[in-house]
Amino acid sequence: MMNYEGFKEQVLILTGIDLSAYKENQMKRRIDALIRKHLCSGYDEYLHVLKKDRKVLEDFVAYLTINVTEFFRNPSQWDILEKHIFPLLLEKKRTLKIWSAACSTGDEPYSLAMVLSKIVPLNQIQILATDIDKEVLAKAQEGFYTNRNMTNMPKTFRDLYIKEENGGYRISDQIKKCITFKQHNLLKDPYPIGMDLIVCRNVLIYFTEEAKKEIYHKFNEALVDEGILFVGSTEQIIMCQDYGFEPNKIFFYQKSKSKK
Ligand SMILES: C[S@@+](CC[C@H](N)C(=O)[O-])C[C@H]1O[C@@H](n2cnc3c(N)ncnc32)[C@H](O)[C@@H]1O
Repeated sequence: MMNYEGFKEQVLILTGIDLSAYKENQMKRRIDALIRKHLCSGYDEYLHVLKKDRKVLEDFVAYLTINVTEFFRNPSQWDILEKHIFPLLLEKKRTLKIWSAACSTGDEPYSLAMVLSKIVPLNQIQILATDIDKEVLAKAQEGFYTNRNMTNMPKTFRDLYIKEENGGYRISDQIKKCITFKQHNLLKDPYPIGMDLIVCRNVLIYFTEEAKKEIYHKFNEALVDEGILFVGSTEQIIMCQDYGFEPNKIFFYQKSKSKK
């Protein structure tokens, strides 16, 4: 009978997702629940279903990677971004390079574009938005949402950038144009460079300490000097100096200036 180690190897081959980098107890519990849901006897039988049925495989990836998100998640942090972080970054240049890493269905990069549009013209906004999961990226590109995602959306942005359509909400093309969506696996793909702001929230909590450390180093390399990393509300970086960061505001870390 296949054990969890064997299952992880097969999942890596099948999906490119390395489950060893995700916290084991939590991941195993989630997978066991899925195995029960599909009425399978264990890893072997479930793997067989995953190989046979594309839809089950897609659901598996979506479930594992936990895609929950919303516009302006943790609103007070978006306030700090608008009032403190963007002005700080814009002191030096007019066009910022921004990366929303693990963006899920796009709520986060669209929120970024909306906030920044209060300060700079839309045609100067360029945001790279990435995720490992192709399904969520397709939804992000479509830009169509239910009310659940919109709870924290300020009314001014709703009026400016959202259209109600068939009981849902559609993002306007002018905001969509600010974002480039791409598939990217934080655990194995090369990172972009020259970023002024990296937003990576509510995904590192699922990774092992080792995987997190490597990612912090890579984020640091991906940022320009004094660039900012914005993390989720349970993801404060202990000993951020070890990775070349200084704490700025809470949940915001600034890359230390390189010594020349
Ligand atoms: C909980 S959502 C967070 C979305 C958004 N950043 C937020 O805070 O609302 C986590 C996202 O991380 C993505 N993810 C999981 N593992 C990943 C990996 N190895 N590389 C890139 N994205 C990953 C998932 O597909 C999912 O969309």
